[in-house]
Amino acid sequence: MSLTKAPKAKNPAELDWSNLGFTYMNLPYRYRAYWRDGEWRDTGLTEEATITINEGSTCLHYGQEVFEGLKAYRCKDGSINLFRPDQNAQRMQNSCERLMMPKVPTEMFINALKEVVKANEEYIPPYGTGATLYLRPYIVGVGGNIGVHPAEEYIFSIFAMPVGNYFKGGLTPTNFVASEYDRAAHKGTGASKVGGNYAASLFPGQLAHDAGFSDCIYLDPINHKKIEEVGSANFFGITKDGKFVTPKSPSILPSVTKFSLLYLAEHNFGMETEQGDIYIDQLDHFAEAGACGTAAVISPIGGFQYGDNFHVFYSETEVGPVTRKLYDELIGIQFGDIEAPKNWIEKV
Ligand SMILES: Cc1ncc(COP(=O)(O)O)c(C=O)c1O
Repeated sequence: MSLTKAPKAKNPAELDWSNLGFTYMNLPYRYRAYWRDGEWRDTGLTEEATITINEGSTCLHYGQEVFEGLKAYRCKDGSINLFRPDQNAQRMQNSCERLMMPKVPTEMFINALKEVVKANEEYIPPYGTGATLYLRPYIVGVGGNIGVHPAEEYIFSIFAMPVGNYFKGGLTPTNFVASEYDRAAHKGTGASKVGGNYAASLFPGQLAHDAGFSDCIYLDPINHKKIEEVGSANFFGITKDGKFVTPKSPSILPSVTKFSLLYLAEHNFGMETEQGDIYIDQLDHFAEAGACGTAAVISPIGGFQYGDNFHVFYSETEVGPVTRKLYDELIGIQFGDIEAPKNWIEKV
């Protein structure tokens, strides 16, 4: 019996680009590289969507797995943009260091992304649909290894799929609920993009969905008094006096989108910015709030349930003006309509 077969993606002509959601698709090509005897080898594209690995592989038992997520954007002139792929390469290298895995050099990482994008080019959603080609690089520890030690062999792969909105609302606000669970600890792996953090988030995420929320908001793992992350995205708030504020904590993922928004708020809009503490009993300081990330882009937070309190930031139905302004600037840059800060766009 095979549990691994996924049907081939539909012909691109049959896809409804404006209603893609965020779902796996088995596109024609993915990239693979194998780490053996201290070097990456056998690199290149393959049509094989399944991987056969030894049953003793560290990725299966001890979560020795790191991954990334970024997107390719079709521009008005037909060209293709990658948004800050060097930042994802760097973050993946940091994650590898934490899990004692071999790093993929930045140049190899970016070249591999370009190969996958070019090979699956007909699956890049057309300009104007709002959809993009999501890219999922990952590295897994493999081999007959059962001891709790780093693996000696690894697979690096990148696959792709066209995607639309991650949170159902898009730019329409949705509601979130504080979780009583933690996804990561301060000296744990929260700042690394590793599978274990996401395994830990499945149950609290399901509880939030069952209660009718888009996702849960994680609080600081020490006192549960400060906001940390919004599901698989970072949190930001706009204070009533116009400051862009985002949490600072060693257990949240350093979001490429968050750092980009901090830069744009300051340099393109002259806003004051701060990475600091966001206490759940001081939410009245904020005029707007949202989730930001590659998949989430910018998703406004309408209401936030914590205990018996339900706090509405701006509105449960309308996106706030500053959130919209930041969203327009960010996607304008990503799709090539607005000039990007130096080195943010890598043309494919
Ligand atoms: C837990 C978590 N936080 C934040 C983010 C946002 O990071 P980025 O903007 O780099 O996509 C993601 C998604 O990648 C995530 O999984």
